[in-house]
Amino acid sequence: MSNVIFLLSGPNLDELGIREPALYGTTTLAQHVARFTERASAAGCAVVHRQSNFEGDLVEAIHEARQDVALAIVINAGALTHYSWSLRDALANFSGIKIEVHLSNPLAREDFRHVSTLANVVDGSIAGFHALSYDLALEAVLALRNASA
Ligand code: DQA
Repeated sequence: MSNVIFLLSGPNLDELGIREPALYGTTTLAQHVARFTERASAAGCAVVHRQSNFEGDLVEAIHEARQDVALAIVINAGALTHYSWSLRDALANFSGIKIEVHLSNPLAREDFRHVSTLANVVDGSIAGFHALSYDLALEAVLALRNASA
């Protein structure tokens, strides 16, 4: 079984740290990724991180995960979550563990954030726990991996 987790970050997440800190906190994306990678490594997993502000780049990263037969994809697709059918279709064709993650709780925000195109192709979604969302997403990957081992 592969031990590689693809951690994917969508539009505007490269601005974490300076982007609406009241909503998203002051932790930078690099800091989230470093913590996620460190914790994954302690559990025997390697992390490939890709951030893009472009939908097609993220679709290709999902293809890459499939070709590498990755263990899991953990994705914070940013606003693409709410309207991207191409990300949804790419994820549908990935057979490993899939976790949707959000720092904020989209269901407690504007109406347009109440829809997730990804929701029915992922194993589950973790939202609203701020930086802890990434820890919980990793816990979910490890629990699902152990359950299927
Ligand atoms: C987000 C929530 C999305 O609605 C928003 O567009 C983002 C960040 C989150 O992590 O809370 O870019 O995915």
